[in-house]
Amino acid sequence: MSSFKKQIPEFKKLIDKHLKIVLSESDQSSEALCQAMGYSVMNGGKRIRPMMMLASAIAIDIDTKDVIPFAIAIELLHSFSLIHDDLPCMDDDSLRRGQPTTHIKFGEATATLAADSLQSLAFELMAKAEFPESKSSQLELISMIANSIGSEGMAGGQSLDLDSENKKLDPLSVENIYMLKTGKLIQASILGPTYFKDLDEEKFSALQSFSESIGVAFQIQDDLIEAEGDANTIGKSVESDKSKNKAAYPILFGINESRKRVDNLYESACASLKVFGESSSSLMDMAEIIIHRKL
Ligand code: IPE
Ligand code: IPE
Ligand code: MG
Ligand code: MG
Repeated sequence: MSSFKKQIPEFKKLIDKHLKIVLSESDQSSEALCQAMGYSVMNGGKRIRPMMMLASAIAIDIDTKDVIPFAIAIELLHSFSLIHDDLPCMDDDSLRRGQPTTHIKFGEATATLAADSLQSLAFELMAKAEFPESKSSQLELISMIANSIGSEGMAGGQSLDLDSENKKLDPLSVENIYMLKTGKLIQASILGPTYFKDLDEEKFSALQSFSESIGVAFQIQDDLIEAEGDANTIGKSVESDKSKNKAAYPILFGINESRKRVDNLYESACASLKVFGESSSSLMDMAEIIIHRKL
């Protein structure tokens, strides 16, 4: 087993520890709100995005300690996106990670406010983080992350995703939605560490291509897990996409095509990393985990 793979349980523990601390330090004014925030973050997420950020830091030789506040912030942003994604006005799902979704457990108003608060906590954390590089690099990094979740990223993709229900989109249009709704935040996790040093252009564009491929592969795999799994194992509804006639890859193009596309994107992702030689092994490991995951 590669050394990164061996370190994964330890990294996951470290991420969970930091998430717990950050949540416990946030304002306790409303008990219901704090409980909803904690419930949404600490209920068994795989922590793929923060882990991806650590893997990227290792690949470009940045101290993983320096990126921790940003990795934590990205997980908070991801948690906020899941609360919104499950709301009745969006995917209307009642199960996530094997438990009732945040709005089922705490009500829609508290769930919405918990998502708002997680988003603002993420930005507070990033703004207060100690940054070894210049303040302007820190601002650029925060701005890149903000962009990845806004109308040019996740929110834009989520809007297109809702608009695509009952439509027969072509593969390129579906992949564009996937890149925006899911890929951009994964890309932000991968590119985040590059703000900590002067990275040569070739390596930067390699990371960019890698993140584009693996971000889309991540979402197709998510759809495959839903299309092929059962709710008890995956901890989410297996009817969500089908019942809303979503423009999901397996629904539109079939399981086999979807599997082929994931494999193909994985190969492109790995090929992009050639310029890193041996030092890309942490990112290669994460790519493999993403395409082989069953949850
Ligand atoms: C699920 O993401 C939602 C998507 C963006 C596809 P994850 O599969 O990373 O969810 P958790 O955090 O591990 O539950
Ligand atoms: C989730 O996409 C994307 C975001 C939360 C931004 P899905 O709606 O396909 O993910 P799941 O299946 O509910 O986790
Ligand atoms: Mg959705
Ligand atoms: Mg959903």
